[in-house]
Amino acid sequence: MQPPRPVNPSQIPGDDRENVALRPRTLKDVLGQDAVRARLEISIEAAKGRGEPIEHVLFYGPPGLGKTSFAHIIANEMKVNIKITSGPSIERAGDLAAILTAIKPNDILFIDEIHRLGRAVEEILYPAMEDFALDIVIGKGPGAKSMRLRLPRFTVVGATTRLSLLSNPLRDRFGIQFRMDPYDLRSLEQIVSRAAAMLNAEIKQEGISEIARRARGTPRIALRLLRRVRDYAQVRADGIINGRVAGEALNMMEIDHLGLDETDLRILRCIIEKFNGGPVGLETIAAAINEDSATVEDVYEPYLLQLAFIKRTPRGRVAMPSAYEHLGLTPPPTFEQPRLI
Ligand SMILES: Nc1ncnc2c1ncn2[C@@H]1O[C@H](COP(=O)(O)OP(=O)(O)OP(=O)(O)O)[C@@H](O)[C@H]1O
Ligand SMILES: [Mg+2]
Repeated sequence: MQPPRPVNPSQIPGDDRENVALRPRTLKDVLGQDAVRARLEISIEAAKGRGEPIEHVLFYGPPGLGKTSFAHIIANEMKVNIKITSGPSIERAGDLAAILTAIKPNDILFIDEIHRLGRAVEEILYPAMEDFALDIVIGKGPGAKSMRLRLPRFTVVGATTRLSLLSNPLRDRFGIQFRMDPYDLRSLEQIVSRAAAMLNAEIKQEGISEIARRARGTPRIALRLLRRVRDYAQVRADGIINGRVAGEALNMMEIDHLGLDETDLRILRCIIEKFNGGPVGLETIAAAINEDSATVEDVYEPYLLQLAFIKRTPRGRVAMPSAYEHLGLTPPPTFEQPRLI
């Protein structure tokens, strides 16, 4: 197994301990995601004014952008309890029924990785979300009876990194849906600056920018890089994180000035050098760099696409001129804009 990449957007061991303390707790603490925050503020205010639970909320988008944080913030702002579970941990319909019967009025049920709920479990969830009812079958065979239990009004908050794997009927039951986009540089700088203050780390503006620029639009990565840079500054410098110290530390982790690491560069070189710039299929790239294709698609490609270094075409991935330039290569003169899907 490869060691965890510092720029992996998913949680890696060691993230949890400090990140929980750094998590924004109220809407006011949230930096960036202005559109999500503004819409949530109105929904929360309105629900509170009516003395009702907020409508069911779905967050979707890449890992590390704050879906779980927002679920906790909603509970905090509504001043209600939150129960946390996830798609893969609710194996049988009975597991969900047990959770639902313990729900108190206005509670929030947070279901992470909601795309991984099984069919039978979804069937229980539909009436619970729509009618606040739990249908249970008592007995077996011809004598079995169906009974409907009333549930208190409550809120489901769902989170998923794979919206396309969510069934339509389930998706339709969420009255409020938010797509989480990568953060802009300014918001990431504010996040790094706030976290540094909370960690009592002394950091200069250039140090902040250096970390934010390499964080791939992802707060979780920004916070992780900050922790590593802080260690480096403490051991190799006088503890102060300035632009030079941050740059040295990040270069040592083999993260380049756009946040690309060795694997990203291998993907780009593979498309450009082995396959003449593409188009080349995802499976072929994955095999050539010895990774599985789902990892390449979910973990590496989103940022390369966001940078417009690669494009997806019907015939495979194509390297764009900016990718050549980033590697210090000259794009082919005959480069044609590939047709997009
Ligand atoms: N807007 C923000 N401001 C400050 N910090 C943030 C913000 N959003 C996220 N974070 C930080 O980033 C970390 C990751 O956020 P979170 O766990 O909520 O992401 P997620 O979208 O649920 O990720 P995953 O899909 O992997 O579950 C959190 O620990 C939190 O400290
Ligand atoms: Mg999460």
